[in-house]
Amino acid sequence: MPDVHILGIESSCDETGAAVVRSGQQILSNQILSSKILSNQILSNQILSNVVASQIATHQPYGGVVPELASREHLRAIVPVVRQALAEAGQTYQSVDAIAVTQGPGLAGALLVGISYAKALAFALEKPLIAVNHLEGHIHAVLLQQRQSEHGELQFPVLALVVSGGHTHLYLAQVDENLWTYRNIGHTRDDAAGEAFDKVAKLLGLGYPGGPIIDRLAGHGDPQAVRFQTSQIKHRDRRDHKKDDHGQDVDGQLLTEEDGPQFDFSYSGIKTAVLRYVETEALKPAIEARWRALAGIDEPTLDDILRFCDRQTLDLVASFQRTMVNDLVAKTLAAARAYEVQTLFVSGGVAANRELRATFEREAGMQGLPVFFPSRALSTDNAAMIAAAAFPKFLRREFVSMDFSAEAGMALR
Ligand code: KG4
Ligand code: ZN
Repeated sequence: MPDVHILGIESSCDETGAAVVRSGQQILSNQILSSKILSNQILSNQILSNVVASQIATHQPYGGVVPELASREHLRAIVPVVRQALAEAGQTYQSVDAIAVTQGPGLAGALLVGISYAKALAFALEKPLIAVNHLEGHIHAVLLQQRQSEHGELQFPVLALVVSGGHTHLYLAQVDENLWTYRNIGHTRDDAAGEAFDKVAKLLGLGYPGGPIIDRLAGHGDPQAVRFQTSQIKHRDRRDHKKDDHGQDVDGQLLTEEDGPQFDFSYSGIKTAVLRYVETEALKPAIEARWRALAGIDEPTLDDILRFCDRQTLDLVASFQRTMVNDLVAKTLAAARAYEVQTLFVSGGVAANRELRATFEREAGMQGLPVFFPSRALSTDNAAMIAAAAFPKFLRREFVSMDFSAEAGMALR
């Protein structure tokens, strides 16, 4: 089959993304197959363009994403972003083979902008339309990276940690005849890890989004200075109810032995602990002064932020990050051992965190477990990952009709 060009569109949260990914399928003959090896066909991906219009400046004054503003910004950006992605890829509306768009999870109004535009393009151009789960996109960002760097075969089962502003989820991933299936074996019971980074940064008057700022500041403080605890959630037992991705009971169903052990996260406690520390150490006046000073600077640099941070704040930030990283790594590796996985994927915005990557590499390395990440740019929201996740669906001719719609709380299965 000739190479396929897929135009991906992503608008689930606060980034408008469009990308063109060229994908191909190479059949290798005479290959001895083991059930654990990814079949004898090799998929290839090449990113031809990957345009992301960020809305950071719009949401910055509010310290978080404002859904109505996000939809408005997507509306403004979608046409030029898609046009730029096609131009950079040397493609036209007519030359792409399919259009892929994020269906969910995400903000309903934001998702609808991408979906409506993708539908209009598919209808007018008579191209197949593919709906992609955003979380599957994050997982395929790892594969996209792998295929770009021409790594060898992938050993299954794969455990994927998707850790972003909205999710901290563990999935066992399998593939059979290009059909990817996922089983959730853990999720956050309250805040997502990225949300904790963002809320703590906001609490400390550091700006938005908090993850990248904390990442850069943490290296300037002592991670041992403040002792924080993270909640150790006991594995659910058979008296517990089955939960969906949002922690809601599923039709009164109870967990059974076949559901296996669960590895859940909880990050609202650490946020409260930081708040308590701020109150007992009387840091509020310094935080307010910092917030005011940084609000007056257009796009503050690391040096700007450092100028307004004393040692105690830097130590607090470093200690918070160390606690988050250790908890994410320890729980993920415990799940990897329990399910005897062969490969670990770490993706989503928080996977851009340098300490998280280094700690995973060190600790997984000690267990002899290969761990893969997307590049830092492919970790955060982008449309190349959506186009990449769409390719196996293209091969299976899994197209959607014009009446499909956004699913804000879409689960990954
Ligand atoms: O995947 P993503 O771009 O959007 C969602 O699907 O949520 O993730 C955004 C999240 C934000 O919470 C942001 O603060 C966090 O990822 N993030 C980071 C880093 N870069 C982004 N967290 C920690 N360290 C980073 N370097
Ligand atoms: Zn995301």
